[in-house]
Amino acid sequence: MAPVRDPNTLSNYHEWRTKHTIANFTVDFAKQCLRGSVILELESQTDKASKEIILDSSYLDLAGIKLGSTPAQWEVKERAGPNGSPVHISVPEGADKGETVTLEIDVATTDKCTALQWLTPAQTSNKKAPFMFSQCQAIHARSIFPCQDTPDVKSTYEFNIRSPHVVVASGVPVPEATKDVDGEKVYKFVQKVPIPSYLFALASGDIAMAPIGKRSVVATGPNELEASQWELEEDMDKFLDAAERIVFPYQWGEYNVLILPPSFPYGGMENPIFTFATPTIISGDRQNIDVIAHELAHSWSGNLVTSCSWEHFWLNEGWTMYLERRILAAIHKNDAYFDFSAIIGWKHLEEAIEEFGKDHEFTKLCISHKGIDPDDAFSTVPYEKGFHFIYYLDRLVGRENFDKFIPYYFKKWSNKSLDSYDFRDTFLEFFSAPEYADLKDKISGIDWEGRFYNTGLPPKPEFNTSLVDVCFELANKWKRRDFEPSPSDTASFTSNQVLVFLNAIQNFEEPLTVEQSQILGKVYGLTESKNVELKTAYFQIAMRAKDTSAYPAVAELLGKVGRMKFVRPLYRSLSKVDYDLAAKTFEKNRDFYHPICRQLVEKDLGLAEKKL
Ligand code: BES
Ligand code: ZN
Repeated sequence: MAPVRDPNTLSNYHEWRTKHTIANFTVDFAKQCLRGSVILELESQTDKASKEIILDSSYLDLAGIKLGSTPAQWEVKERAGPNGSPVHISVPEGADKGETVTLEIDVATTDKCTALQWLTPAQTSNKKAPFMFSQCQAIHARSIFPCQDTPDVKSTYEFNIRSPHVVVASGVPVPEATKDVDGEKVYKFVQKVPIPSYLFALASGDIAMAPIGKRSVVATGPNELEASQWELEEDMDKFLDAAERIVFPYQWGEYNVLILPPSFPYGGMENPIFTFATPTIISGDRQNIDVIAHELAHSWSGNLVTSCSWEHFWLNEGWTMYLERRILAAIHKNDAYFDFSAIIGWKHLEEAIEEFGKDHEFTKLCISHKGIDPDDAFSTVPYEKGFHFIYYLDRLVGRENFDKFIPYYFKKWSNKSLDSYDFRDTFLEFFSAPEYADLKDKISGIDWEGRFYNTGLPPKPEFNTSLVDVCFELANKWKRRDFEPSPSDTASFTSNQVLVFLNAIQNFEEPLTVEQSQILGKVYGLTESKNVELKTAYFQIAMRAKDTSAYPAVAELLGKVGRMKFVRPLYRSLSKVDYDLAAKTFEKNRDFYHPICRQLVEKDLGLAEKKL
C-alpha cells in the first residue's frame, strides 16, 4: 500500500477513491441542519480488493448506509481529535482494481457541525429570511457528510438542494432541472471538473444577483446588491483577462462572487463557480477587492492544481499570492503594485514569525501536520513564504522563462494533486530542456530542502519601494513632537498606503501618546472610516497608546465583523489592555461568530482551558 500522504484524513483513500458524489440535501432552517442522502461512487485502487471503506466524519448523525442497493454493515469509531470519527463500512466481496462500488448514506448534520453557520432572520440585514452558509476548508467537509476529506482526492459532483430560499453551490446551476416540491424548490447544480471535498460549498437565504462582468454575477442580500455590484463591476473582467493571459483560459465556465453576512470568518474562499467573500471588501471605494483577484487566481492554483495535503498548503496559497500580485501589476500597468503588495506581505510575515518564534515548526514552508488541526497551523507563513519561494524562482530563471513555466506547470497538474517534491521535479524537468542550458548552474544551486524545511524568514529580496516611500516619510514626520498633521497628508494615498503608514506608526519603538493617537484618528478620518482594514489598524495603535476612550469602539466593531483576520488580532490586543472587556465582548457576541472563529478566539483568550 502506498504511504498515506495526508495525515489529516482517516480514510483509506489509497485503496478506494471517490470519483463522483451526489449530494441530496434539504436545508432545514427550523432545525438548523442539512439532512438527506449522499451517494459516493468509489473506485477500487488495488487488485487485492480491500474489504472495507473508511470515510472521514465529524459530529454527524448517520441513519443508514447502503452498499449498492443493500444495507451495509457499518460502524462509527471513536473520535480521534480534530480528524473526527472514522466510519468503517464493510464491502464483503471487495472489488477488483478499477471497479466501482456505490455507497448511499443517510445523513443529517448536528448542532456540533463546524462547517455551517445558521443565522436567524433577526441576524440578517433585512430580517426577512434565515441564512446558512458552509466553509469546508480545511477539514470541515466531514462535518457535513462522510467523505474522503483530503485534498488528494478529487470527485465530480451533482447537488440537489431543497430549500425555501435561493441556493448557491460550488457547481454550475442547472435552472431547467430545478424542481418545485410543496412550495419549496430543489435546486440542481453540477460540477464536472473534479474537485476536492474542501471545495464543496452551499449557501441559502434571501439572495439577489446582479451582473459584474461577462461571465460573472455578484450575489448577496437585496439591501447590499447595488453597493456590491458597484464595488466589483469595474474590475471583474480585467482580473479574468489578466489571469488568463498569465496562465491560460479559465476552465470553470462562470466566475461569480457571493458576498456573505459579516460573520463570514475569512476574507474570501475560492469555492468554484461561487467565490464566497466577506462584506468587508464592499467598502465603497473599490480599495479592498484584491481579495477577489486572489480568490480568482485560486481557479488555477488550488482548484485546478491542488496541494495533496495541508502540509503542502503553500502550493495553493503561495502560488495564489504570486498570481494575485501579477494580476494587480497587470491591471495597473505598473510593476510597483507587485512590490507594494509584496512589501505589505513581508511585514505580515515578519510579524507572524515573531509571534510564533523563529524556530517554530509553523514557520516552515512545509509544516508537519501529524496530530495537528490545520486551523491551528493556519497563518500568513504559507502565503508569504510560499510567495517568496515562487518569486525567488521567477527571478532566478528570469521573467520571460518563468512565464513559460507557469502554463506548463498548471497544465501538467490540472485536475490532480501534488506535493512539494512533485513541484520541484516539474520545475527541474521544465528547465532541463536544452534551451535553458545556460541556467544549469543557477538551478543546481537551489536549496530545495532548506527552502522547504528551514524555519524563520527566507532571504529578503530588493523591493521597488516607490509606493511605500511616501508612507514612511509621513510616518517619520509623526516622530516629531511638533508635527501638525492635516487631512491633506493622506489625500493622495490609496487605502493600502494609509495602511502601510499606520503599520509604520504601530512599529515605532515608543507608542503614540493618548493625545497623538486621538488626533491621528480624527485628522485622517480613521475613527469614522467604513474601511474595516483601516479602522482595525487604527484601533491597534490606540490600544498600544492605552487610549481607553477607544476601547468601547473596539468592542463595538467586534460585534459587527466576524472576519478572523480582524477579530483575532483585535481580541489579542484588547485582552492585553482590558481582559475583562475582551472576555465580556466575546461572550456577548458568541452566537454572532462562526463556529471556527468562536473556537479559535476561545483558545486565544484562554477561555477554552478555563472551561475544561
Ligand atoms: N483559501 C483561503 C481561505 C482559507 C484558508 C480558509 C485555509 C480556510 C482554511 C482563501 O483563498 C484566502 O486565502 N483568503 C484570504 C484572502 C487574502 C489572502 C487576499 C483571507 O481570507 O484573508
Ligand atoms: Zn487563498
